[in-house]
Amino acid sequence: MQERLKELQGEALEKVSAAMDLKELNDIRVAYLGKKGPITEVLKGMGKLSAEERPKMGALANEVRDQITQGITAKQVQLEEAQIQAKLAAETIDVTLPGRPVHTGNHHSLTRVVEEIEDLFIGMGYTVAEGPEVEKDYYNFEALNLPKGHPARDMQDSFYITEDILLRTHTSPVQARTMEKHEGKGPVKIICPGKVFRRDNDDATHSHQFMQIEGLVIDENIRMTDLKGTLEVFAKKMFGEEREIRLRPSFFPFTEPSVEMDISCMICSGEGCNVCKKTGWIEILGAGMVHPNVLEMAGFDSKKYTGFAFGMGAERIAMLKYGVDDIRHFYTNDSRFLKQFSIHE
Ligand code: DAH
Repeated sequence: MQERLKELQGEALEKVSAAMDLKELNDIRVAYLGKKGPITEVLKGMGKLSAEERPKMGALANEVRDQITQGITAKQVQLEEAQIQAKLAAETIDVTLPGRPVHTGNHHSLTRVVEEIEDLFIGMGYTVAEGPEVEKDYYNFEALNLPKGHPARDMQDSFYITEDILLRTHTSPVQARTMEKHEGKGPVKIICPGKVFRRDNDDATHSHQFMQIEGLVIDENIRMTDLKGTLEVFAKKMFGEEREIRLRPSFFPFTEPSVEMDISCMICSGEGCNVCKKTGWIEILGAGMVHPNVLEMAGFDSKKYTGFAFGMGAERIAMLKYGVDDIRHFYTNDSRFLKQFSIHE
């Protein structure tokens, strides 16, 4: 009996030391120390022992139990510790790992250019004005000194909705609307960005829908030199301080005199290249002194007030500024194109 108990102790402790996890350890505890375990089984034979041997065997049985219990407890501590360590190792955060980049959207390159131009003029005291994209023939043409049947209407092929309503062909109607709201009182100093529409076939430089930015200043004693100075500031801020400007005579029904502004080519600095078509100059916008008829129609006294106006295509400005060779890139939303202007990457 004594030998059997020692044998069981040895066997149990061997299994304990080999146990891989807490579950296995608990199974060993149940198997050896439980009521149906082999030790209990051995002790059932105690009745056959002599009165002398019985307490000795009892003491030995207790000792064997204690040894196994101790072994189990020690192993349990060891396994628990190992479990904690394993958990810690698995949950370790490597703070030196670079973070995953978060892909955020950003403003479209065209929006960016429009905002830059807006900011520039806001800095000069202008406010931003807006008008409807579906416009009355009156504001789009008539109030701008383009009565029905005027040949210059052909300069802008229009999408008519009814006989009197069309998709605006330029942002100039916002001039007429703003002046009307001022009820003959200056000063007026606005910049108006917006979508415009023309019956053009889309190609690298034409789009049936594009963005224009219009400027209008009306006050007493506004002169052509004010226009020139303003445009010069604009050109230098947008395209570099070394840019020069030149004004060429032109024609717009709503301005008199009318001009077109060129800037010295920023690619070749005037030497002559493909962008400036070997002329050294790039056409940027149309402008002029507000025609007295336009002032009068909007309720301004053209003897007291004068003004200047200008209008430009935002895509053209963006194309020149960023070297974009096809206007359609702004609308086809190819993310490879858009990402080039990302400020986040
Ligand atoms: N509205 C003209 C266009 O779309 C551009 C323009 C030219 C606007 C001269 C103006 C201006 O205000 O003064 O072609």
